[in-house]
Amino acid sequence: VVTDAHVGPLYAQSIVAGLQGHAARIEEILVQPGEGSKSVAGVSGIWDAMVAAGVSLGDLVVALGGGVVGDLAGFAAATILRGIRWVQVPTTVLAMCDAAIGGKTGINLTRGKNLVGAFYPPAAVLTWIGYAASLSDREVRSGLAEAVKSALIASEDAFAALESDVDALTARNPAALLRAVEMAASVKVAVVSKDPDERGLRRVLNLGHTLGHALEHATGYGALTHGECVSVGLVMALSFSAAQGWTDAGLADRVAALLQRLGLPTAPPRMPVAAWWDPLQLDKKLESDAVRFVVCRKPGDVFDVRLPLVQIRDWLARQPYVELASGAQRTVE
Ligand SMILES: NC(=O)c1ccc[n+]([C@@H]2O[C@H](COP(=O)([O-])OP(=O)(O)OC[C@H]3O[C@@H](n4cnc5c(N)ncnc54)[C@H](O)[C@@H]3O)[C@@H](O)[C@H]2O)c1
Repeated sequence: VVTDAHVGPLYAQSIVAGLQGHAARIEEILVQPGEGSKSVAGVSGIWDAMVAAGVSLGDLVVALGGGVVGDLAGFAAATILRGIRWVQVPTTVLAMCDAAIGGKTGINLTRGKNLVGAFYPPAAVLTWIGYAASLSDREVRSGLAEAVKSALIASEDAFAALESDVDALTARNPAALLRAVEMAASVKVAVVSKDPDERGLRRVLNLGHTLGHALEHATGYGALTHGECVSVGLVMALSFSAAQGWTDAGLADRVAALLQRLGLPTAPPRMPVAAWWDPLQLDKKLESDAVRFVVCRKPGDVFDVRLPLVQIRDWLARQPYVELASGAQRTVE
């Protein structure tokens, strides 16, 4: 059972108790909470602990925790002895909605996030919404940003259902949270089962993520959570798409209203254009001078386009929250 030092003391005992009698031996491997554990040193520590415990091909890894533990323990499971079975037990809303589904495992390198990894689906993903009770409000909200993205990919009905559940979601009503998680997880399952290796369709899951990742990078991974960056990225992507004539202008406002009611940010901090530009150029999906940009025409109608980066930069330079280089003139639309 691989878990972190926040989740372990709360929940590892119940997992261990449940496994007792079904396993010859159960070992608990504890990692430090946080993105820093998703590293070569982090996975190496897990490999060592597994070998010290006498790991064999018949063993099973249970990844109990958020996306960090899932990615890390999944990668350890994918690589130890060339791969042993594993099960994910996601404990954050983000992991329940998104990270635990789809079989992507991996670690970060100092030069970038998720640069090493494997597609290695778990044997099962076991979700219990009760784990959300011990998360902070901010963690719950961040996970719900991915649910908003999933509803946009799914359908008008899914989006309208989130809108009508918004008060219950902000009150952290478990039944409403479970509805949102089930919707988001089934969107992800539907997409990744058609495109397990990310050759095409799976790219739609990056809706809001091109600008969201750029914001996360520009603000140094930490000031804003991943979900908060996705929230801002979704609104920016829809506004950008509206400016290109691809999306009805009202959709950005409707999505922003829902995100705001969920307590999520919808506009980025003031930053110079270079702060956006540098991470956009580093985007790992970059194809020469273009990115794969995901457009949502309306809920349920999502596709990706190959977009020259300058087109995003020119639009960014017209936004009031982007500081221009001294002396540059802003063109007003
Ligand atoms: N594999 C994928 O497809 C995929 C998709 C999206 C994100 N991710 C990855 O997921 C990671 C982010 O995941 P996250 O947002 O779950 O963060 P996280 O795993 O760091 O968890 C956030 C914090 O909450 C704590 N925590 C977890 N569950 C808790 C609980 N039930 N009660 C109290 N505290 C709890 C953790 O210890 C941690 O401090 C990133 O590394 C990202 O790259 C992976």
